[in-house]
Parts: sequence; C-alpha cells; structure tokens
Amino acid sequence: MAELTLPPNSKVNKGKTFKAPEGTKRIRKFNVYRWDPESLDEKGKPKNPRLDTYEVDMDNCAPMVLDALIKIKDEVDSTLTFRRSCREGICGSCAMNIDGTNTLACIKPIEDVKGDVSIYPLPHMKVVKDLVPDLTHFYAQYESIKPWLQTVTPQPASSERLQSPEDRAKLDGLYECILCACCSTSCPSYWWNSDRYLGPAVLLHAYRWIIDSRDEMTGERLDNLEDPFRLYRCHTIMNCAKTCPKGLNPAKAIAEIKKLMVKRAV
Ligand code: SF4
Ligand code: SF4
Ligand code: FES
Repeated sequence: MAELTLPPNSKVNKGKTFKAPEGTKRIRKFNVYRWDPESLDEKGKPKNPRLDTYEVDMDNCAPMVLDALIKIKDEVDSTLTFRRSCREGICGSCAMNIDGTNTLACIKPIEDVKGDVSIYPLPHMKVVKDLVPDLTHFYAQYESIKPWLQTVTPQPASSERLQSPEDRAKLDGLYECILCACCSTSCPSYWWNSDRYLGPAVLLHAYRWIIDSRDEMTGERLDNLEDPFRLYRCHTIMNCAKTCPKGLNPAKAIAEIKKLMVKRAV
C-alpha cells in the first residue's frame, strides 16, 4: 500500500499512522485532517494541522465513510472530532470534503473512492477542530434572509394558509435543502467574498421564500438582496450544483432571483 506523500510546501504535516491489527485481510487507508487549537508549539501557538492515517479493517466496517470515521473514533482514536447526527443524509451535520469533493460522509460509499480515502473539513471555513468547520457566519447569513413565512393579512379563521398544488410544486427542488453548506464552501465567489456574498445555499433559501405564494414580503425580500455583493457575486461557475449531495441546483435559484430583479425593474 502506498505511503502518504504530501505536496511540497504543504502547511499540513504528516501525522501518525494507526496500523490495522495483525492479520487483517482487507485494509483501506483513511488520511484524515487533524487540527486542535489547544495543541500548542513551543512558542505557545497552535501547531500546524497534520494528516493522520488510519488503516481500517473493511471486513468489520459498514459501507459508508461515516461508518469508518465512527469505527476509528470508537476503536482506535477517541480524540478524532467530527459532526454527525441522522446517519441518513437528512441533518447535514456530516458535510466534509472527501476525496476532493464536498459531500455527506454518511451517504458516501467507501467503495466509490479509489485508493486511499482523504478526508478534510469543508474548504475555506475556519476550523473549530479536526473535521468541524465554524458555521457561525453561514448561519448568521441564513438568518439575514428571514427564512420563515412573513405575512400581513390575518390567517383565515377556519383554515391554515392554503396553497394550490401548482404553487406548492414551485417549492420542489428548494425545500429539500438541508443546509449542509457543501455548495457554499465549493463556490469560489463565496471563498473570496463570504463576508458580503450570501452564497448558493442561503440564496436558494431566499428564493424558496420569495416564490412561496403564501408569503407577503416578496418586495422586501428582493430589496434585501439588491446589492452588488449579496446576490450578484454569483458568476454561474456551477460548482454548487455539481457538489450538492441532495441533487439540488442553487445556481438555477440564483438565476431566477436575478430574473425577478430584472422583471421588477422594467
Ligand atoms: S453558480 Fe454561483 S453560487 Fe454556484 S458555485 Fe458558481 S458562483 Fe457560486
Ligand atoms: S443546496 Fe445542497 S449542498 Fe447546498 S446547502 Fe442545500 S443541500 Fe447542501
Ligand atoms: S449524519 Fe446527518 S446528513 Fe450525515
């Protein structure tokens, strides 16, 4: 099995290798990004990240990348830190970069990765520890689009606010978003302008509320996006649609918002 080699000038050091037990027949190697803000060098600064290598016995491991991470944490190295909850692609917690692509570890089959499995946190985000990105800013941006139904007219006394099947169908391809942030963290425009550009995930949600027939704040929602950075940093590079583990197309939602902006300007 090939030894781990890092690119020259990499700021990530080669870490420890955790060997599989003697006699293991089917081994896969997992090269996992590790960084601990509390692990300090002699000058009192956090040490550079490292890549630890774990050899996993595939005859005793369930099929998904998350299964391997849980096995490593349970049986080999309890210090390995990552998020997960639902284990079935619903909560979005286990989003990470696997084999060079942002995806959900719980629905990524190990056998889909050729060679060693490299695992990093979502790119271009601050890291809290190991595979856990800091999503504080991402969630604050989500909150900024007021992701809830806003109305001014009172609700009918005898029913909920109803919607025709046709209007409900307009939310398909949008409501399924689990806010995993795989798309935003694969978007070059978001990498460089995330302080001001909302990014694909948040804009997809913005559009979900803009086209909800029950919402009565469409104008205000569009006003909130009318800004050279919040919306218009999307250059249709399409990484977002390519990477979305739920098969959604945030770029299309962004294009629809832009169309609505043009329509209301004429
Ligand atoms: S299409 Fe727009 S939002 Fe999607 S990755 Fe490209 S620039 Fe980012
Ligand atoms: S659009 Fe897809 S990739 Fe982006 S946050 Fe939603 S589910 Fe995740
Ligand atoms: S653990 Fe919930 S999406 Fe992976």
